[in-house]
Order: sequence, then structure tokens, then C-alpha cells
Amino acid sequence: MFFRTYSATLIGVNSRIIEVEVDFKKGLPNNTIVGLPDPAIREARERVNAAIRNSGFEFPIGRLTVNLAPAQLKKEGTSFDMAIATGILLVSNQIKSRIDISRLLLIGELALDGMIRPVRGIIAIVQEAREKGILYVVLPKENMNEASLVSGIKLVPVERLKEVAEIFASEESIEAKQVTCDQGVLSNRKMDKPGGILGDRYASMYSGTDEGSMDFSEVIGQEYVKRAAQICIAGAHNMLLIGSPGSGKTMVASRLPTIMPDLSEEESIETTKIYSIAGLLAEGFGLMKKRPFRAPHSTASNVSIIGGGKNPIPGEITLAHNGVLFLDEFPEFNRNVIQALRQPVENGSITISRADTRITFPARFILVGSMNPCPCGYLFDSDNECHCDPRKVRQYYMKLSAPILDRFDLQVVVNPLKIDSMITPDRGTNSSSIKQGVLVARETQNRRFKDMGGGYYNSNMNDEDIEKYCVIKNDVKKLLFEAAKIYNMSMRGFQKVLKVARTIADLNQKENIGEGEVLEALNYRGVSHILSSYFRNKSGLLTPNSSFGKK
Ligand SMILES: Nc1ncnc2c1ncn2[C@@H]1O[C@H](COP(=O)(O)OP(=O)(O)OP(=O)(O)O)[C@@H](O)[C@H]1O
Ligand SMILES: [Mg+2]
Repeated sequence: MFFRTYSATLIGVNSRIIEVEVDFKKGLPNNTIVGLPDPAIREARERVNAAIRNSGFEFPIGRLTVNLAPAQLKKEGTSFDMAIATGILLVSNQIKSRIDISRLLLIGELALDGMIRPVRGIIAIVQEAREKGILYVVLPKENMNEASLVSGIKLVPVERLKEVAEIFASEESIEAKQVTCDQGVLSNRKMDKPGGILGDRYASMYSGTDEGSMDFSEVIGQEYVKRAAQICIAGAHNMLLIGSPGSGKTMVASRLPTIMPDLSEEESIETTKIYSIAGLLAEGFGLMKKRPFRAPHSTASNVSIIGGGKNPIPGEITLAHNGVLFLDEFPEFNRNVIQALRQPVENGSITISRADTRITFPARFILVGSMNPCPCGYLFDSDNECHCDPRKVRQYYMKLSAPILDRFDLQVVVNPLKIDSMITPDRGTNSSSIKQGVLVARETQNRRFKDMGGGYYNSNMNDEDIEKYCVIKNDVKKLLFEAAKIYNMSMRGFQKVLKVARTIADLNQKENIGEGEVLEALNYRGVSHILSSYFRNKSGLLTPNSSFGKK
């Protein structure tokens, strides 16, 4: 006797339909699962066996072979349990199907008592099912909230394996149980209407980051740093905050979510799908509306930050896709992690290679790092002396390496606040006014790059774009060339000044980049220069603070 049911597996952020073939023959007991299953699926044998028995059925005694096809595709996870168990109940004649099971997808992990547990990545699975013309997706009830974001497909929530028998009894019984989410926001309709298709649901969406009651107005003074934060978010520029202990670097970075624009509809779908795959969507959520802000600790493992593992899962860099990845105490991170950031920072994605597969996860984020300028922390401080041995300082920077430092468009020296300023605090700019500017600059960029398919900002400009959008007058060009010589700038560094200047002009609502914009952009490129001067002058007599960190 032979039956075929259908389930699905995850491949990166996408899903593939898997055929679950079950063959049963009376004879000596022997159960096998073939078709490149991972250990979790092999263990399904035990789970399925117990779940079948504890649901009031019998596990058939004989030669049972389960094949997961296509055989060459590596499958992972526990989402096949229900399809395997159903196949076994069908081949052993314990349930009868009066519906066309080739148009039905079965997803869910089985608990030993026959209850059905949720799986991760249900959004990608249901989307794939809809694409492949599947009519019904039978899925764990706990995944319903998430799955109902996809419209135009019939969802059949189940809690127990026993219920499958009822569902299969007749066309009417499955129809009675199914829920069609026409309100689902992930419809296949085009999103070209003003306000989009999301309507009210979008308005009440789940917020991915909770910035609570934080506000930039709590940061006293430091207008220069707040301005850098605005430029960073406005043009999606990577930013390094570098300064003495207690100067407010972490304080500034943790307020970035308060000035980030909401996700666009497309970004929202993409981000929610990633969180669904990582199993990180909260109960009772909608689509994610807020941009992610991820701040992993420096002791986090390489895999948890970059992604990977035996069955590759998204890491922090993918969870930060469309948002910010904040690496506080940047040099404390593992050297391999820092080096591995180069690919995603350049390409907006990360490819994880395994012996038999290559999986690419999206990873387009704004990188924000914070660090002390030397091991003691006071190298750039005008009030405190740095006692570090220059060799120690060199070692400290060896870990970062020039190419990584160069990838920060904005290198911001954060000077500690003077005590006087704390006594009579000047609260200055608040989050709402900073965000206002960000929104204006983003709007300008959306118009400028409307043909680029979204998620393309000034920081992403290629040589051609720079030539087209960063036109500067000859006298400003001369100034820039001189600065480039003094700063010993690389070609990349030079282009980054132009890109930052473009964002500053967008914030200033100016069509053309002028001298003011270029000078302001140059202000944020000094760290590499300060350091190379410092290392040239090994006696350490140079006080870098004398030339930087002040506007
Ligand atoms: N400009 C400021 N306005 C208000 N409070 C500030 C400011 N700068 C620092 N502080 C206070 O100092 C505390 C320490 O700041 P923060 O942790 O951000 O420093 P840091 O630069 O990250 O230091 P470290 O290098 O040690 O990590 C903050 O929690 C805040 O209370
Ligand atoms: Mg800090």
C-alpha cells in the first residue's frame, strides 16, 4: 500500500514543497525514513510512533518506508511530523480520505501525546503553498496568527492529530474547519494603491522594537553627535561612535530607533518573514512595522551573529535586515565576526556555504559601532591623559583592520560632556525633530532612486550614481582633493565623503552639494587620519582631540 502526502521545508528565507511518500507492507517490523533527512526528522520516527498510539490509533507492524522527495534536497526541522503520521494512518487504513490530498499541505510537529506543536517559518511555507496552487494548508493552531498574514489560501488549524481523521472525512468537513484570510496582508495583489493594501491592519501592527520612552532630548548637548545620528539614519550610512568611557555613545546609539522611519509595506513583509523563520514573532502580532534594531552582545557566538549552523538559521545580521545592527564595544567582538561583516556590509546579503548547499540570507542593515579609542579609553580625551603603550593601541586597532574602519561612512568622535553642561543642561534637539529631517531626506532619496526597487539610499550609490548625483563645483572639488591628501584618504573614503555630503544636502533640502555640506561630511572622516598620525608619532605626543570631535 502506498500514499503520498505533502509538506514543506525551509531553505534560507524561502520554502519548498516536499512529497512525503509512505509505503507499507506486512512483514517483519522495519521502519525507515529516507531522502536526506536531518537528525530532527529521523527522530520523527519515535515522535510519530508515540503520537499515533496516544491519539487512539495503532502504529502498524510491518515494513514501513517513508521517503522525502526530492531526495537530493536537504530537509530540516520537525514540520514533516504531521505529513508522515497522516501518511502512515492512510496506508494502514486507519483513516480514509474522501478529499484530494494532492491539493493539501500538512505542516506541524507532533508531541508524544498527539498534540500538534507550532513550527517556524510558516509565512514562507504558506506563501510557497499558495504559489504552487495548494488549496488547503493544515497547520498548527498556534501558527494561525502568523499564517493568516497570507491571503488567498484556505488555512485549516488543528490542535491534535486525531482531528486529521475528521478533516479527511469529507469535502464538507474540511470546508467547515477552514479559514480563508482575505484580510491577509500578504496577498498576491499588487501594492500600487495609495496607502497600499494593508489598510487598518497595518495601522495596528506589531512593533518590532520597543524604544519605550527614550528620546534624544535626554542627551544633553552633543548636537554634533545627534546630527551624525540623523545623517546615519537618513542616508543609511554606517556609523562608528568613538570616545572616552561614559561619553554617551551607548546612550546615543540606543536612541536611534526613535528616529528611524517605519518600514515600507514591502520591507515590512520581508522583515516579518525573516522573524517568522527565526521563530521570533511574538504571539498575537501583526506584520512588523518598526525597523529592527539589533544589539547583540560581544560574547555572542559567530553563528548567532552571522547566521549558519548545521541547518543554517538567520543570524543577528539578517534579523537586522532593513534596520540597524548596533555592535557596542566593537573591538570586543570576535575577529572572525568583524571580518565576516565585510560581505554583508558591501552586498546586503550573507551566503552560508555547507558541503552540500549554499544558502543566502538577506542582510542589508546600517552598521553602528561604538568603541573607546584605546584600551584605557582616554586617547581622544582633552581632560584625561591616555597612559596606553602605543604598541597596545596598535594591537587594539589590528583587530579592526583598515578595511573595516574604512567602511564606516561616519566616524564620530564623542567627547565627554563637561560638568558645567550637566549643571545647566541644554536639552537641545529631540527625537521628533531629528526624525522629521530624516523623513524629508528619505523622501528625496525615494524619488531619486525610485527605479532601484526600494531599500536603496545614498550610502548604496555606485560610481555611476555618485557621478550623477554628487556633482560639486570646481572650487569645492579642489578643497576636497586637498583634504583627501591630508587625510590620506582611500578612493573608498573619498567616495564616502561625497555620499555623506549628498545626504547632508538632502537634509538641508538642497539640490546641489555645496562647500558647507562637504566640510560637514569631512568632519566625520577624521578618525583614520588621527590614528595614522598617532602611529607615525609613536611617542604619542600628538593629541588627536586637538583637531577632532568638535564642530
Ligand atoms: N550627553 C549626555 N547627556 C546626558 N547624560 C549623559 C550624557 N553623556 C553621558 N551621560 C550619562 O552617562 C551615562 C553613561 O553613558 P554611556 O553608557 O552612553 O557611555 P559610553 O560612551 O557608552 O561609555 P563606555 O565607553 O564606557 O561604554 C549615561 O547613562 C548617561 O546617564
Ligand atoms: Mg557604552
